[in-house]
Amino acid sequence: MGANPALAGPVLCVVGARPNFMKMAPLLAAFARAPELPRAVLVHTGQHYDASMSDRLFADLRLPAPDLNLEVGSGTHAVQTAEIMRRFEPIVDEFRPSAVLVVGDVNSTLACGLVAVKKHVPVVHVEAGLRSFDRAMPEEINRVLTDQISDLLYTTERSAAGNLAREGIPAERIVFAGNVMIDSLRANLARVVPPRETLARAGLDAQFVRAGRAFGVVTLHRPANVDRPETLRECLEILRAAAGKLPLVCALHPRTRGNVERFGLSALLETAAIAVLPPQGYLEMLGLMAQAAVVLTDSGGVQEETTALGVPCLTMRASTERPITVDEGTNTIVDRDRALTLRLVDEILAGGGKRGRAPELWDGHAAGRIAAHLGAWLAARGVKQGA
Ligand code: UD1
Repeated sequence: MGANPALAGPVLCVVGARPNFMKMAPLLAAFARAPELPRAVLVHTGQHYDASMSDRLFADLRLPAPDLNLEVGSGTHAVQTAEIMRRFEPIVDEFRPSAVLVVGDVNSTLACGLVAVKKHVPVVHVEAGLRSFDRAMPEEINRVLTDQISDLLYTTERSAAGNLAREGIPAERIVFAGNVMIDSLRANLARVVPPRETLARAGLDAQFVRAGRAFGVVTLHRPANVDRPETLRECLEILRAAAGKLPLVCALHPRTRGNVERFGLSALLETAAIAVLPPQGYLEMLGLMAQAAVVLTDSGGVQEETTALGVPCLTMRASTERPITVDEGTNTIVDRDRALTLRLVDEILAGGGKRGRAPELWDGHAAGRIAAHLGAWLAARGVKQGA
């Protein structure tokens, strides 16, 4: 492809929701060290807006303040996606970017990708090709559609290339780069906040995690688990039973906290063995997970982080889009199977949990590889450095 005069501007880098921030931080740092790249402009859609869901993570990750914040806030999927598109379009018109780079699988990822592709701006997707094969998950729709409209797809594990090939994505668009989320983890491990401090800051008894005493960490926010009273009750009953075996530190997402209250299920969390915390900062969360005996979660990123940390993870979902965490890492899919979950907690407490190994290219250098590749890719399209 020859030089395209329309492609002279910066790379617009999009974040929207919490799991995007730890992926974007190492990318921006690597881009700043890559003189061959046009300048990066950081756009925050405002999908997540609470201090605990956004500002705090920016500070922890040393992310620069966004150049632009679209302040879309919450809404139904249609409203949120449409509002992001409506507000992102004039940004693309104004900046005439060389590329729009999106990460992960949240509504902001798809919405901004869609605006870009319709304006013939190349879409770059970091963390492409993951598939849960469960189209009831909004993230799965976001993944499939974003990948279809992306010009360049950077993957975190080799299984992604097969998924993309089956969907007709040409192999030359796909680059196995490794896992930028693990870049963040490795870069920040030395800075984590010790669990005792995190609990004390939350006003909880620091003795909850006495030295040498095993504890578990819980995150729960998937609509399939928390949006219906029956499934949320099932999850909380499993947690309560697990808390009979080891104390649990539970960092509650606002969606989950709201539903626990709305469905009248708060009593299930009221036990001395469960510490309920607000959403935690990145360094607090890493500190908790690194020292946990087990992590119970329905998050995508936490499955990867526990694998990188070598901490057993029980995933309360029916499937995972990150199979390498099960095949090579520390992850086991337990869905809402109470007997299985409790048996595995017993095994882990007896010293038998999965330890796994670090997957290929989860080495802390994924963002550097992406910066180098993207610089060459844009240069081949006639984009000038420092645009
Ligand atoms: C979104 C992502 C999900 C990701 C998760 C991480 C989509 C479709 N989902 O889900 O993939 O795992 O982020 O957190 O993009 N809320 C607040 N404060 C905030 C943000 C949200 O209170 O700063 C509450 C609101 O009540 C909102 C609800 O949480 O309605 C859900 O927020 P939303 O961004 O729609 O989805 P998440 O569940 O956070």
